[in-house]
Amino acid sequence: MSDNIILIAGATGNNGRALTGLLAEAGYQVRALVRNLQSAQSLMQPNVQLCEGDLNNPSSLKAAFENVDRAFIATTIMPNTVELFQNFFDAAKLTTGAHIVKFSALGADHPKSLVQQQHAESDKALIASGLPYTILRPNSFYQNMLWSAESIRATGQFYLPFGDAKQSLVDVRDLAEVAAKAFTEAGHQGQIYDLTGPESLSYSDVAKQLSRLLDKQVTYVPIANETALQGMLDSGMPEWTAKALAELYSVFATGEYAETNKSIQIITGKPATPFASWASDHRSAFA
Ligand SMILES: NC(=O)c1ccc[n+]([C@@H]2O[C@H](COP(=O)([O-])OP(=O)(O)OC[C@H]3O[C@@H](n4cnc5c(N)ncnc54)[C@H](OP(=O)(O)O)[C@@H]3O)[C@@H](O)[C@H]2O)c1
Repeated sequence: MSDNIILIAGATGNNGRALTGLLAEAGYQVRALVRNLQSAQSLMQPNVQLCEGDLNNPSSLKAAFENVDRAFIATTIMPNTVELFQNFFDAAKLTTGAHIVKFSALGADHPKSLVQQQHAESDKALIASGLPYTILRPNSFYQNMLWSAESIRATGQFYLPFGDAKQSLVDVRDLAEVAAKAFTEAGHQGQIYDLTGPESLSYSDVAKQLSRLLDKQVTYVPIANETALQGMLDSGMPEWTAKALAELYSVFATGEYAETNKSIQIITGKPATPFASWASDHRSAFA
């Protein structure tokens, strides 16, 4: 194991948090890049150090790369996401030339929405940087179902704009295992991985599995894309984000991202987690 440090940007997010825990527990030295030291205290555990920095502020990134030979980045969808990624790549290039594992999204090879287009552009920028890279392009996460947990608890119903489209949804915990392997085993540099779960699921399938788990009727109510957009705006989501997500949802509703593959199993040596196992591990959120 190298004495060098693995930097995680987006460490308070879904994937960064899971990866930070996994690497630290395996004995690697992890530096979590966070915007607010106070609110990131829950990341603290042995082998983890916090470093204050903002992807919008290139000068704050230089110190973050000190002694770093590997760095992960996932960040929020924003109007200037491409610039945030570029700032990170530039800091890596100017300092240690670290191996970058970049979180992208399924479909970035043939983008059909602005979010996928942003990933396509920043994936290309990473490749053009000359830094060693690994690009992860996952399908939508099981964890997104937690956004509907309150509604499921309260009414047994959840509302999404996907019609009867299927998707090969995936567990963030599996994605963290893939990112960890990319850093700690040979053979992953220069690779781009499309990452899916093991099943092609419609949200009616998801409802059936939750009904079985909770021993109560859970119903998926398909809604129009415009209704979903209005719901996100009414909840206070910034207009740009709500519109970008609604556009992405309209692409998922075509059923184009239903195909499964074996990448997770091949990379981690373990089969990808089925939805039922993930849901069982998160039962208390839905019950
Ligand atoms: N949700 C899905 O189903 C799905 C599927 C495929 C791909 N993706 C992609 O996954 C990415 C999001 O990953 P995630 O869900 O793991 O993240 P997340 O939970 O949305 O968290 C985003 C992270 O980025 C950090 N961040 C945002 N702006 C920052 C800045 N200016 N400087 C430093 N850190 C900043 C946030 O820190 P703070 O705590 O400071 O806010 C947070 O840690 C997006 O690119 C999305 O396109 C999502």
